[in-house]
Amino acid sequence: MRMRIVVTRRIPEAALAVLREAGEVWLPEADRALEPDELRKAVDGAAAVVSMLHDRIDGPVADAAGPGLRVVANVAVGYDNIDVPALAERNVLVTNTPGVLTDATADLTFSLLLALTRRIGEGDRLLRAREPWSFHLGFMLGSGLQGKTLGIIGLGGIGTAVARRARAFGMNIVYSGRSRSAAETELDARFVSREELLTTADVVSLHCPLTPQTRHLIDAEALGAMKNTAYLINTTRGPVVDEAALADALRRGEIAGAGLDVFEKEPEVEPRLLDLDNVVLTPHLGSATVETRTEMALLAARNVAAVLAGEAPLNPVRG
Ligand code: GLV
Ligand code: GLV
Repeated sequence: MRMRIVVTRRIPEAALAVLREAGEVWLPEADRALEPDELRKAVDGAAAVVSMLHDRIDGPVADAAGPGLRVVANVAVGYDNIDVPALAERNVLVTNTPGVLTDATADLTFSLLLALTRRIGEGDRLLRAREPWSFHLGFMLGSGLQGKTLGIIGLGGIGTAVARRARAFGMNIVYSGRSRSAAETELDARFVSREELLTTADVVSLHCPLTPQTRHLIDAEALGAMKNTAYLINTTRGPVVDEAALADALRRGEIAGAGLDVFEKEPEVEPRLLDLDNVVLTPHLGSATVETRTEMALLAARNVAAVLAGEAPLNPVRG
């Protein structure tokens, strides 16, 4: 009998073709996130699950799949939606999609940074509101990047790609995180404490994964430590920032602005953020290019195919 591969939401055709070689593919009919009970029902009898970042995959979901479950391939680099230890206990492998989304996510990070510092969203809204305007030397001034300091929290693959872009824009780099990076020399980046980073950076960009240690890493105290001329960019996971504290800090002028691609309770957004002009918002578009999404899905499919063929997965993750 062919092995059952459950794909929780539509993925590019090229990746489905790889999966169809490996087993019998099941896809939901509706193009929306599965509810938890729908997910538990869908995985029944699965040998592999291709999951999205909005699917919570934990012990009970693995139990609903049954003892035949061998691999959960998350189509994302982050895997905070998966209880990896609970799956390991059940001998289920977990894989992610590192590397292929690094440049796309760094590009989006820089888009937010430029949109924020050059007031692109605000200018776009002004024109669409058909407001009168005229060029003058003091009109809608933003803030330049050259000679400013970018503080990167988590200099991994994506953080490094963001830092390379920032160097090309003439920015200086400081970073903090759990470990030193080999890219430090190339980037002329200085490793500093998180406290020093927050108090000295003109832009703080978050590139650490979401873990119990990084949840609300940027809270009221961290925001209070930032310069009131500084900007915050978040393209990692929403819960790394205390969104309510961020709205407070922005309203009080404790920081200059924020660029956010991810939110604490996606797809919801803290309503007070929606009313602020110095906030640029995108709906989790970090990896959203045709090329990157295809690569991500293909990589997840190849991980499934490898495991079902009895080979080692390409991108195993540990809890
Ligand atoms: C997207 O957010 C990812 O983790 O791939
Ligand atoms: C990105 O691909 C990362 O692994 O940080």
